[in-house]
Formats: sequence, C-alpha cells, structure tokens
Amino acid sequence: MSKIKAKFVCQSCGSVTPRWSGRCDNCGEWNSIAEEMSGGGVGAGPKSAVSSGRPAALTSLDGTIADAQRTISGIGELDRVAGGGFVAGSAVLVGGDPGIGKSTLLLQAAAQMARTGKRVIYVSGEEAIAQVQMRAQRLGLADAPVHLASETHVETILATLEHGPSPDLVVIDSIQTLWTDRVESAPGTVTQVRTGAQALTRFAKRSGAAVVLVGHVTKDGQIAGPRVVEHMVDAVLYFEGDTSHAFRILRGVKNRYGATDEIGVFEMTEMGLQEVANPSALFLDQRDQGAAGSAVFAGIEGTRPVLVEIQALVAPSPLGTPRRAVVGWDSARLAMVLAVLEARCGVRIGANDIYLNVAGGLKNGEPAADLAVAAALISSLTGAALPKDAVYFGEISLSGGVRPVVHAAQRLKEAAKLGFSAAHCGRIASGDRTDAISLQAYTALEDLVSAIAAGALAEQ
Ligand code: TYD
Ligand code: MG
Repeated sequence: MSKIKAKFVCQSCGSVTPRWSGRCDNCGEWNSIAEEMSGGGVGAGPKSAVSSGRPAALTSLDGTIADAQRTISGIGELDRVAGGGFVAGSAVLVGGDPGIGKSTLLLQAAAQMARTGKRVIYVSGEEAIAQVQMRAQRLGLADAPVHLASETHVETILATLEHGPSPDLVVIDSIQTLWTDRVESAPGTVTQVRTGAQALTRFAKRSGAAVVLVGHVTKDGQIAGPRVVEHMVDAVLYFEGDTSHAFRILRGVKNRYGATDEIGVFEMTEMGLQEVANPSALFLDQRDQGAAGSAVFAGIEGTRPVLVEIQALVAPSPLGTPRRAVVGWDSARLAMVLAVLEARCGVRIGANDIYLNVAGGLKNGEPAADLAVAAALISSLTGAALPKDAVYFGEISLSGGVRPVVHAAQRLKEAAKLGFSAAHCGRIASGDRTDAISLQAYTALEDLVSAIAAGALAEQ
C-alpha cells in the first residue's frame, strides 16, 4: 500500500514544497501554491521499484533505421510546422490563448485526415458533442468520418482508444480538463494534468498513434500549469495571433522530428481557418503608403522570408517619464536602438513618447529588424516618409555600426517578388545580390539617419 501524503505544488511551474507559502520560491509566482494529495509513486516503497523491473535489452548505436512514419493532415501550413506531417507514435502539444482557434484548426485537420481513410479520434473535454457537431456542420466537415467523444476521465479515454483498431490520430482538447483517479488532487491541478498527459504520451508510444494535446496558455505566455508537459511531448506548437486580427500564426518551438522556428500562417474566416500561401502579401496589404513612420522589414520566419510593415510614432511627451509602447517586438531592443540613435548618431529622440507596432499582429524577435525600426523612428521624428519601394534589414551594434545578417539572398528575392526595387541593409556578399533590387549598404547607422534627414529637407 502506498501512503497518501499531502504536498504543496506550484500550479505554475510544478515545484513541490513541504508547506504552503504565498509565493513560489522557484518561479516567483504569487498565490500559485495549492495543496495536493499524492500516492507514493515509483520508488516510494522499499520494494516496489526494484521487484517489478526486468533488465531491458541493450543495443549499439548503429543499425538500420526506418524513416519516421508521418501522417499528413492535408493542411499544408500545419504539416510544415510539424516537420512534414505528424510522426506516428509521437505526442504533440498545441498551445495558445483561449479563443485563438486551436479547436477549429484541429477539427479541420482531424476531418481532412479522416477523409483520407485514417482512423481519427477527437476527444473534446471542453465542449459537448452537440457543440462540436454544430461547428463541424458550419465548417462543412460533418461528412468526415471522425470518431467523436466528449470525455475528461483519463482512464475512460484510454479504454476508448484501446478499443477497436488502433487510431492514426488522436486529438485531446484540452489537457486542462483531464482528470485521473490515480492521483487525488483536484482536476486542473498540475499533478492531474501531468499524470494525464503522461498516460496519453505513453499511449502514443505504445500504439503508434500521433496524439495531439491541446493546452491553454495563461496571460504571461506559459502553457498554463503544464509547462511540465512541454518536456514530455515530442513537439510543441504555439498558435498565436491577436484576436482582433484575422491572422493566426502557428509556430514550432520544439520538435524532435523537424526544424523549430517554422511558422504556418492562417486567416480566420467564417469558414474556419484558411491557409495563407503568401504571408508577405497579406501583411503588406493595408500598408499606409506614403505615411511617415512606416518601414517595410524583410524578415525571416523559420525557413521562409516574410515582409512586414513596422510602424513607429514619435510624439512630444507631456510627461516627465515619456511613454514607450511596443506591440510585436522586443521592448528591450527598442530601448537599445533608441540609445544608439541618441549616443552614436546625435538624434534627440529620448524625451518623446514612442509607440512601435509590427502591423498585422505578427510577433517578431529578429535583431535584423533593428534597421527597419530605426528607419521608422527617424522617419516619424522628421516627418519624412520613406521611399515606398524600399525594404530595410540589418542588425545595429552598440557602437552604432550596421551588421550584415543571415539569409540576405532570400530576403532580397522575396522583396523583388513583391515588387520592391530597393533595399537598405548592412553589407551584402556579391553572390547574394539580385538584379531587380538596388542596394544601399550601410556600415554606420549615422549614414542611414542622414539619408532620411536629407529626404526630409528635400520635401520641405
Ligand atoms: P476556437 O477554435 O474555439 O478557439 P480555442 O479552441 O483556441 O479556444 O475558436 C474560437 C474563435 O474562432 C471564436 O471566437 C469564433 C472564431 N471562429 C471563426 O471566426 N470562424 C469559424 O469558422 C470558427 C469555427 C470559429
Ligand atoms: Mg477550444
């Protein structure tokens, strides 16, 4: 018999403490510690662990390896982020804010896959069967032979999955609703979620099914509670975007079977999520051409070039401490660009309120965007619009230099494809150049600043 003991578990990071406190020592979260009951677990009893173990067969590193068997969902953008389809026997966590479209995406993928003759089981713990059916009908997916269940009890789910032929794809929506009677803590607690996810991950390995676990993200961007689940699964995909925009971005952050940092772009419509084949065209669609403070950045997302508009507004501040508001970019990087402009280029910008926005709801963390941000800032400060047909990319160093960035050829090619004819950037190797784009290469940020300021003088 294992002994039942009370322990205190942080619901944010999963760390265990012997007594309750108001703040978790491990992750610093306030009010996240809850009491949970637990059985002994493996190794708790003196005999339990060793007596039930059997020696496993050991083998060498070489041997014939079959390629990972993949199931294609038929949604190209999703398959690409997953590394070319879902790998049989793998567990994938799909995280995102509530309401972003996780259930919609996975219902569409499940239906597509079922139509190609795969056995697909969709377990909804959040919505009743009628709700899922209603959504399927609205999306025109009701004819797909998906096997649907509404269930939250892990043991019942496992029994359902084991029953009948082995499934190719299992969707569990969501892991926060799972509960198992093997642990005694309340549903939704870290221990429950972790135990449930572990059981389903083991089922994936055992049966060869691809198991997709849906997880909600909390306001601070962590997959709620089950950050612990990230370590268990083979791939973690985040579904992000601004609910006020139609664009949704699926981003791979961990993948044992493929590249990470790959993105898939979708648009939320009345007919569910539609794939966006050419994201740059979409992000530049409503560009404010000819307005001061707008610069087009030629970025790279995973393996794909994506052009986005960077908007800046620099306005005199009525406050002692000027405001800085950044959407879609790193605010620490903005502070750095501002400091370099002040200290190395003699631009008096720091006393102003500054707003920076990556249009379209894309989140971008690339240092290569430094030059586009600087161009947008100077353009807004001087009131001079930047040339409409130019893109900007390059990293700025603290000494005020402009550094070349990787994948320049791809950035230039994408810009040419979308009708741009000039690029302002760091130095570029001659092999990377494109005839369609005239290059303006800078080694010092100061030169870009004077070029934009000269444009402002010429306009007056
Ligand atoms: P949902 O998939 O339920 O989000 P999640 O599972 O991540 O919580 O998506 C919900 C939102 O998507 C909801 O606000 C309505 C919107 N939506 C559409 O705009 N079009 C559609 O065809 C569907 C199914 C949903
Ligand atoms: Mg949902």
